[in-house]
Amino acid sequence: VVTKTLDRIKQEVLGCTKCPLSEHRKQPVFGVGSINADLMFIGEAPGAEEDRTGLPFIGRSGKLLDTLLFEELNMDRSMCYISNIVKCRPPENRDPKPEEIDSCRPYLKEQLGIIEPKVIITLGNFATRLLLETKTGITKLRGKIYEYSGSSLIPTFHPAAALRGRKGVLEAMRTDFRKAKEIIYG
Ligand code: URA
Ligand code: SF4
Repeated sequence: VVTKTLDRIKQEVLGCTKCPLSEHRKQPVFGVGSINADLMFIGEAPGAEEDRTGLPFIGRSGKLLDTLLFEELNMDRSMCYISNIVKCRPPENRDPKPEEIDSCRPYLKEQLGIIEPKVIITLGNFATRLLLETKTGITKLRGKIYEYSGSSLIPTFHPAAALRGRKGVLEAMRTDFRKAKEIIYG
């Protein structure tokens, strides 16, 4: 079997019109980071700044992600890989629709298949539900480690939830990030 390269998939995504989100985006946001990453973050969908720049998690949520990554894992984003389940920004930052998530999921699957991270951290309900194939919410799912195709999957809250200031969310995220560190560094 000939495996597609990450760059080849990126080219496909940059030209993708498989779902209606292609009509509203400035550009798709494929993902960034190291192909050898031990840790991969999966978020929901690009926001305004991501849509403008083509880079994932660079707005307020992204700043918090960078902070937690540094403080809990002593890593910067170049050492991991960051992407989203949906590559194009939904208008007005609405939730992605099931059929949009469905159209986009093969790209994420291919990214995961190439990177094969030791640990996947899913950020929030949408990413967690997609990978664990469940309808259960993140509050119930987090706190445990799951298996996803040879990787350890750690579900946690979306940084946007921590920014909204709900009690305990940030501390829970720190706990989840420390679990990732334990698995990666033993
Ligand atoms: N929120 C996400 O889920 N993904 C991004 O890339 C930015 C914000
Ligand atoms: Fe294609 Fe995904 Fe963008 Fe839809 S969201 S147009 S499936 S890249």
